[in-house]
Amino acid sequence: MKAIGLHHLGGSESLVYEETPKPIPKNNQVLVQVCATAITPTEFEWYPTSHTPEGGKRPFPIILGHEFSGVLDAVGSDCTDVQVGEHIYGLSDWFINGAQAEYCLTVPAHIAPKPITLEHTQAAVVPISALTAWQALIDRAHLSAGQRVLIHGAAGGVGSFAVQLARRQNAHVIATASPANIDFLEALGADEVINYQITPFEPPLGTWMWCLIRSEAI
Ligand SMILES: NC(=O)c1ccc[n+]([C@@H]2O[C@H](COP(=O)([O-])OP(=O)(O)OC[C@H]3O[C@@H](n4cnc5c(N)ncnc54)[C@H](OP(=O)(O)O)[C@@H]3O)[C@@H](O)[C@H]2O)c1
Repeated sequence: MKAIGLHHLGGSESLVYEETPKPIPKNNQVLVQVCATAITPTEFEWYPTSHTPEGGKRPFPIILGHEFSGVLDAVGSDCTDVQVGEHIYGLSDWFINGAQAEYCLTVPAHIAPKPITLEHTQAAVVPISALTAWQALIDRAHLSAGQRVLIHGAAGGVGSFAVQLARRQNAHVIATASPANIDFLEALGADEVINYQITPFEPPLGTWMWCLIRSEAI
């Protein structure tokens, strides 16, 4: 198969488009024919990109891209709830080769049916940013109805999911954004949108906040 391999630690200059063996799923794995994947620039520096779970060094070349949308090409014998040919989206373990390739491996728990309303290119960019927002608001903050949440960088990848998830919890959503994104965030369900370019966010808030999500680019 064709893949983009990282041949040494560095940036995009370390990537090579090349032929590499097609992965073979173990009994608990599925093989995904990748239709779309995403680029996460910070992935070059992630610990799992260069290390094994035990702390050793991963061998090069290493394939990046750990969120994707595609079609199941093969399923291991233990994967009884999924079928070859299913259109799915999801992510893969960051310690294994990723989806910047024609095929990648993952496990059934890390995939879900692709929504029919989304193209593969749209579905592929959902998993990591949506999961980040979910972990912050739902798993950690236990956000619930009536609570107030401030979401910085609300129009970005993480922030736009955070706004929608907070709205779904019936929280009061206060977002920060530049002027071009104010209408967008109101359409997503933000109750208040603060233009961070002209308005300090602290005074308008006034009262106690349940949680604050920092999703601006840093
Ligand atoms: N994407 C992921 O899956 C993911 C996962 C884990 C962690 N992260 C981290 O989360 C952060 C956001 O990532 P992202 O992918 O959501 O980035 P992004 O799509 O580039 O969005 C960043 C947002 O930051 C806003 N922003 C820029 N300067 C600001 C300022 N001075 N005050 C307030 N907002 C400002 C921008 O808002 P305007 O466009 O309205 O100006 C932009 O929409 C990054 O630090 C990233 O490393 C991301």
